Order: sequence, then structure tokens, then C-alpha cells
Amino acid sequence: MKMKNLEELFEDELFDIYNGEQQLTKALPKMAEKATDPRLAEGFRSHLEETEGQVRRIEKIFELLSIKEKSEKCEAMKGLITEAEELIKNTDEGPVRDAAMITAAQKVEHYEIAAYGSLISLANTLGHMEAASILAETLEEERATDRRLSDLAEGGINREAMQEAA
Ligand SMILES: [Fe+2]
Ligand SMILES: [Fe+2]
Repeated sequence: MKMKNLEELFEDELFDIYNGEQQLTKALPKMAEKATDPRLAEGFRSHLEETEGQVRRIEKIFELLSIKEKSEKCEAMKGLITEAEELIKNTDEGPVRDAAMITAAQKVEHYEIAAYGSLISLANTLGHMEAASILAETLEEERATDRRLSDLAEGGINREAMQEAA
């Protein structure tokens, strides 16, 4: 669909991340199931709960701005999830797979950080201050998740993976 103005671009970007978050609610339980390190599994599970809340936040924005929700496939998220699935397929259970899943998950978080950062700029420009502050809550959760993943990788999982027999 052709977009005519910034408002429509904002809506389109919202539909995109709305679909992306929904794809994640399906992928995160599988990631948790495949994780060996209990802290990583727990991290995926707690981010699943956050992600469900993030979906509801977007629905709140739709309501707030009377936006008619449209389903739009987020191709980028689909690709990122496909890559995560391939990494799982190409590794055995253990620290190497955990390290691989952390890299895949951090790519997802960085995509989300970019998406929410842009959405906040658009909302601010359009004068949608309440939407901007709702989106900022999610952005902070994505940043915190990214930091936790780095801490897990650097706090032992990468080292354990390095010691895995060749
Ligand atoms: Fe998210
Ligand atoms: Fe996330």
C-alpha cells in the first residue's frame, strides 16, 4: 500500500512491529526449550512474558489513536527467526548452541531497538506524546534484554562453548 504522509508511515511501522512481536511470542518458547543453561532458558521465558505485554501495548496505541489494525508480515523478523532456527538445527544441545542462540536473540533485540527508536521519533514528530511514552517503555525492555544477553554470553556461556571439544 502506498503511504501518503508521515501518519501513514507511523501506522505502517506499527503494523510491522506488531506482527514481529507476535512472531516472537511463537519463537521464544521454542528458544527456551532448546536452551541448556537454565539462566538462558529463564531469560527467554521472562522475555516471552514481556513480549506479550508489548503486543498489548501496541494494541493500546491502536485504541488510543483509533487506528484500524492491519496484519502485515514483518519479513525482517521472519528472517531473523529463520536464522535462529537454522543455528539450532546446526548445533547440538549444549553451550555452543546456547552461544549461537544468544547471537540470534541479540540480532532480534537490535532490530526491535531500531524499530522502536524510529517509532518514538515518528510519534514525537506527529505529536502523539502518550504513544511515544508507551513505546519508550518497550524500548527500555528491549535494551535491558540485550544487556542481559551480553552478560550471559560474557559471564560464562561463551567460555564454556570455547572449551567444548572440537
Ligand atoms: Fe519485543
Ligand atoms: Fe525483544
